[in-house]
Formats: sequence, structure tokens, C-alpha cells
Amino acid sequence: MSRTPLAALAIAAGLTLLAPPAYADSFTPGSAGLGDPYFPHAGNGGYDVAHYDLSLRFNPKTDLLKATATISATATKNLSRFNLDLSGLTVRKIAVNGKPAKFHRKGQELTVIPAKGLPQGEKFTVRVAYDGKPEPVNDPELGVTGWIHTKDGATVVSEPDGARTWFPANDTPKDKATFSFTVSVPVGLTVLANGEPKNVGIVPVRNGWTSSKWEMREPMAPYLAMIAIGKFKVSESVASGVTNITAYDPALAKQSQHLHKTTAKATEWGIKHFGPYPFSSTGGIADKLGVGYALETQGRPVYDGDTSDDLLVVHEIAHQWFGNSVGLRSWRDIWLNEGFATYAEWLYEETHNGPTAQQTFARLYKSKGDFWQLKTGNPGRNGMFDWEAVYERGAMTLHALRKKIGDETFFELLPAWAEKYRHATATTGNFIDLAEEMSGQDLDAFFKAWLYTAKKPKL
Ligand code: TRP
Ligand code: ZN
Repeated sequence: MSRTPLAALAIAAGLTLLAPPAYADSFTPGSAGLGDPYFPHAGNGGYDVAHYDLSLRFNPKTDLLKATATISATATKNLSRFNLDLSGLTVRKIAVNGKPAKFHRKGQELTVIPAKGLPQGEKFTVRVAYDGKPEPVNDPELGVTGWIHTKDGATVVSEPDGARTWFPANDTPKDKATFSFTVSVPVGLTVLANGEPKNVGIVPVRNGWTSSKWEMREPMAPYLAMIAIGKFKVSESVASGVTNITAYDPALAKQSQHLHKTTAKATEWGIKHFGPYPFSSTGGIADKLGVGYALETQGRPVYDGDTSDDLLVVHEIAHQWFGNSVGLRSWRDIWLNEGFATYAEWLYEETHNGPTAQQTFARLYKSKGDFWQLKTGNPGRNGMFDWEAVYERGAMTLHALRKKIGDETFFELLPAWAEKYRHATATTGNFIDLAEEMSGQDLDAFFKAWLYTAKKPKL
């Protein structure tokens, strides 16, 4: 905005006016949410995160976390203040571009008020020092997520909105960023995280504490960020050129000693069907969490206990292409994650002497249940992990599409989808467009019946 004539006159006359700084009238707050239809408060407006540098110190004996998060971002508008998502914990100090900033908190919103406005297009860093006992989110419908205390440490599983339980985040799948982790724990405990360890062989020990660094070099949604602390049996090797790092709690030796091999097999199989593996490493972590589900944390899924079911590992590894590399723009499109990962299980069975995908499809098509009551393409917040409506009907949608466009086009479509939106985000509309483009068919009525109608589609 231009100055008022009065201010211009005053300046011309060499007078100093006690007016607000020049930016005050054109710098406005970033929004406190992004209006996701299922999680309106998650995520924040006005900036785009490039990197999270998380430095954490955790003592399992006291459950205390002491941390500093340094976030590098770019303002996408002139910002007078902006929000991060953070729940629980105590914020001690915040600096923006190295200068102390004011802040206040309300619910999951941490509002940061920098001393000076942040101009659109400019990079800035915000450093948040915080500590406390992290508490997981306990959602009556979606279960327990976030920072999970275990017998010998802690492990993180944050889908859909648990990242805020352990670091200040722009907690939306839309804003991917690279991550680095420096984690200090008492000597004797092992730390794993997404990506690759940075200081292999060099494990500094000081006053009974040891620290490790991990780096996720490819963009990642905050809900996929993970660290695991505890006693672990770690294995490392290379599968089809991809580093494979797995770990299991020794108490799970019986159920999880094959995790390393199964992960290698699932990764190699995925590469054959979906194209190049999207990350610098693969892997998995089996720990006793008690949450009752596994999560496809980027490059290194977390399993709650048992990993003896190969199909579960295939599911989580398939998410690396579908869900992680090709991410969601809106939680409403969750079938793009779960329908694809479930269809990967059907394809894996089909290529390993199991039932064909057609047999699985036919069996489910006949059965009753939530399949036909919910809309797969908009199952509602509480229905987003509905096994039948989202996972199975999502996979059925892909199988019905395969029958409609033919095997040849369908098996080109899967890697083309993974390639086109690699390390990005996409919508159901993007998928329909690509399927139409590659098949030359008008598929609007088909997808309307399969995804957006609470009724059994006709074959
Ligand atoms: N996305 C996970 C998977 O399919 C499952 C999952 C994550 C989940 N969070 C959940 C299931 C909460 C039920 C409730 O691998
Ligand atoms: Zn899944």
C-alpha cells in the first residue's frame, strides 16, 4: 500500500511520525488452518516449509523430551505472524531469523509473532526450544497417534495429525519438507529414524548419553516423520540397489526376525510393478506399541508387533510409492493411499500363487458390509480408515478400472501415476485425468459410481 499524503508530507518535511512501521498495514497473519474438510485446524497458511532440523534429547526413565526445532521456510505472503501446530509440551523460546520472537498458544495452535514482518517470497528460519512429556493424541474414532511411549523408549506414528505431539509442524500432507534428526538418548539405547544415518561408526558418548543423526533427503509430509528409540536388533543390506535398514525389538524376535528379508522382497517386487523406488533407503521397525496398526512412515514403516504377515509388509512398502511419494492434497482422498496399497496386496498374491485379484474382487463384490454404505472417495473424517469402504472398495475400484481399460493400459498407469506425481501431491481428479488420458475413455461415470455413490456399482 502507498503512504497517505499526510505521511508523505511529514517525511518530505523531515518530521518523524509516531506511525506504525511501514509493513504494518500490508503484513497480515497467516491462517491458523488450511481448511482440510476433515482436519480444518491442521496445517497453517502463509508459508511453505523447506526443511525441519529436529534436535531431540529423550530420557525414557522420566519420559522427558528436550528439543529444538529449526524450521526453514519461505513466506508465501507478507506475514505479520504465523502459526505452527503443537500440542502439549512447554515452549521456552522462539527466534525468527535469529531474533527473539513473541508467541502465544491456544489449543494446537502456536502463534509466532516475529519482531519484523516477513516479506512474501523471502526465506526465514524459526527456531523453537521446547520440552516436556509428549502425550499421544487419543482420538475415539482414529485411535492413538503421535509420540508413543514404549517399555524401553518411544516410537512415533502420526497419521493423520499426530506430528504436533512431538515437534512444531505445518501439519498438513500438502507441505512436504526434508528432515534431519539429531537424537540423544542414554547409552545402551538405539535410535532409528526416516532416511539414512549420517554418522555411521561415529557414535559420540558423553556423560552417559549418546547421539545419532539421521537424514531424510526427499520431501516428506510431517505425519510420516518418525523416530524410534529403544533396544533394537538392527540389520542392514542392499536390495536392488536400495539400502535396507530394519530393526526389531528383541522381544519380538519370533514374530519379526524375517522382517529384513520380507522388506527386501517387497521393495524389489514394488520396483518391478510401480517403477523406481522413490527414496534413498527402505526398511521397517517392529516395536511393541499397542496401537493396533502399522504405519508407512517414510522409507521405514513402523509395525506394531507382528510382521510375520508378508502382505502387511507389502502394504506398507507399496505406500512408499502411493501415499508417501505421491502424497495427498486432502485427507478426503485417502483411498489414493489405502486403495492402492491394498490393491498391491492383491497383486502380490496374484503373482505369488495366491488367489488372483479377480477372485478377491469377486468374493468381496458378493459380500455385505460397509463397502456400499460409505463413499470411498469421501468416507468422512471418522471413516477414513474404514477397512471395507476405503481399503477394500478402494482396491475394488482399481480392479474394476483394470477390467475396464485392460491389463496393458492399467499396468502402465500405475508406474505412470507414481512417476507423474513423484515427491509431490495429487488429487482423485488428477488420477481420473491420467486414467482417461492413457485409456482414451471417458471415465467420469465409472469413478462416480465407484467412489462417490453410497451404493453397489453395477458391473
Ligand atoms: N495408514 C495405516 C496403514 O494402512 C493405517 C493407519 C494409520 C490407521 N493410522 C490409523 C488405521 C489409525 C486405523 C486408525 O498402513
Ligand atoms: Zn495403508
